Amino acid sequence: DKGNHRHFMQKEIYEQPVVVAQTLRSYLRRMENQVSLPDMDFDLGSVKRVTIVACGTSYYAGLVAKYWFEKFARIPVDIDVASEFRYRDPVLEDGGLALFISQSGETADTLAALRHAKAHGQIIAVVVNVPTSSMAREADLLLPTHAGPEIGVASTKAFTCQLAVLAALAANLARSNGKLTAEEEAEIVWHLSEAPAAMNEALSHDAAIEAIAPLIVPARDVLYLGRGPDYPMALEGALKLKEISYIHAEGYAAGEMKHGPIALIDEAVPVIVIAPSGPLFEKTVSNMQEVQARGGKVVLISDAEGIAQAGEGCMATIEMPKVHPLIAPLVYAVPVQLLAYHVAVAKGTDVDQPRNLAKSVTVE
Ligand code: F6R
Repeated sequence: DKGNHRHFMQKEIYEQPVVVAQTLRSYLRRMENQVSLPDMDFDLGSVKRVTIVACGTSYYAGLVAKYWFEKFARIPVDIDVASEFRYRDPVLEDGGLALFISQSGETADTLAALRHAKAHGQIIAVVVNVPTSSMAREADLLLPTHAGPEIGVASTKAFTCQLAVLAALAANLARSNGKLTAEEEAEIVWHLSEAPAAMNEALSHDAAIEAIAPLIVPARDVLYLGRGPDYPMALEGALKLKEISYIHAEGYAAGEMKHGPIALIDEAVPVIVIAPSGPLFEKTVSNMQEVQARGGKVVLISDAEGIAQAGEGCMATIEMPKVHPLIAPLVYAVPVQLLAYHVAVAKGTDVDQPRNLAKSVTVE
């Protein structure tokens, strides 16, 4: 049932504050200011290496997690898409943690990668939205997302719930190997608890985002730029746009622009810049200015402070609440989803069931 919404995708975008809060409730102990995971029969503190494997949007959640695991837990992280991981004969030392991320829990490549990792002595952790799925059954550590059924083929709420679980896992790993003080853990709990309200505020800018959609509709190509944990949001924004609006889009690490893609820039290629104010803001803005100096038309997604500082000369700006960098990926997922959604609606494509795509890819 779509309720008041025109499409399942729109409904699921709007459900995010509630389902992220629901997911966080099972991973945060607010009273104790602690993160908590389900019981497990191995010692998380003994994990020396994490290997993350997933496909599509779930892979992008994994890319964000890599930043968090390395930053908080100081554990080396390897990450790959499942279809590559399986066939490259990865080096897997005994006792490593292999982490699989999947909405459906049935994606054929991810499931085969899980079995490969299991056969090579890895502890299997699974972040999955369907608790009865094959991946859930084969996990040593099952970390459910509580997004509820996701009907739209383009993943939205499952993605932000994956991020919520992965942030809690990062904090747990960090605590288990002695890299996180109680105070730092309390701060993480506090910031994560603020995510649902910040996502609600992000949703309140929907009308402004809809008004920008006509600027993107005529484009043949669109670039998305971001840095650090917001670089995967650029990849995710580009994937959402291409799969539902059929406009060619690419996400790039902002600093990579000058190594090639900047050659594409002209007034016909809109550039979406994801730049929350924070430690990487100035760097991203300087990449944005390189684009503008070559006639590129920029849509800047930032908070009021960032827009005041760098919004001039942009084709459009999308304002987000000011948030801690930890939760920026959860919050900035919302405007990139909404932008893709409104562009697709304006183009009249089948938003919930885009051509050539299946909700669950159970063949290789
Ligand atoms: C993109 C999308 C796909 C899935 C991918 C993995 O919007 O939905 O890229 O993320 O097919 O699916 P799961 O997460 O079910 O393994």
